[in-house]
Amino acid sequence: MRAPIFAANWKMNKYVRELSDFFEKFKSSLNDAPLKVGEAFEVIIAPSPTHLTECVKYIQQTQIRMGAQNCGLAKFGAYTGETSPAVLKEIGAEWVIVGHSERRHVFKEDDYLILSRVRAALQEGLKVIFCVGEILQDRKAGKTFNTIEKQLSILKEGQIQTQDLKNLVIAYEPVWAIGTGENATPQQAQEIHRFIRNWVQEKFSSEEAQKLRILYGGSVKVENATQIMSQPDVDGLLVGTASLDPTVFAGVVKNGLKPLTQEKNT
Ligand code: PGA
Repeated sequence: MRAPIFAANWKMNKYVRELSDFFEKFKSSLNDAPLKVGEAFEVIIAPSPTHLTECVKYIQQTQIRMGAQNCGLAKFGAYTGETSPAVLKEIGAEWVIVGHSERRHVFKEDDYLILSRVRAALQEGLKVIFCVGEILQDRKAGKTFNTIEKQLSILKEGQIQTQDLKNLVIAYEPVWAIGTGENATPQQAQEIHRFIRNWVQEKFSSEEAQKLRILYGGSVKVENATQIMSQPDVDGLLVGTASLDPTVFAGVVKNGLKPLTQEKNT
């Protein structure tokens, strides 16, 4: 049984002064969730690095975890504009998103830079949400599997060890579905999630592949969370727009948990 993860990617949004209100409403909206956060499932909030220290205050004595949206490619050094993974850990982040499509496509981060970030994060004891996903042209040209495989292959080429996989989850985020309102169908998500799990089985081990949590991201909403989470290889959601509002994000979590109370069709 893989405990689901619901991760909020706030991107470059929100003032620090809005945090108190967000957490108050989010925590109370989660009170009537059918399962307990931190036991049956995990919740991660990934704000801008400027917000982390303040966020930590609001999640003390809760099971909500903090994540960063990216991290530097080394512990310390002459890397202007980067954020040290060691310091992210120091200030209370447990997780970091690496390889998000906005990093890949807007900021032109390539596979090798992304691999350096994954390695640096793991080395400093952060857990990684490693994102992959195809652009619309790839999908239209029937190249989705090739793109995903290429993005995944850096893990193997970069000698990420089988034991590192316990600190890594993979997020499948089709680029054409991010922030567009157009989500992948549950079947499209399942097809790629199964492909990712098979790839991990082939390249690492079947035990790790079975344990690996694979999240879906891209226009997740209250309305589609249950259906997407019903798929056997979908183990969580990475949520952008719908995570900015505390009641909406709690609604996504609660709807996403529904299939857990029933048996998933494997
Ligand atoms: P979205 O963003 O939910 O707004 O589509 C998801 C993401 O970029 O992680």
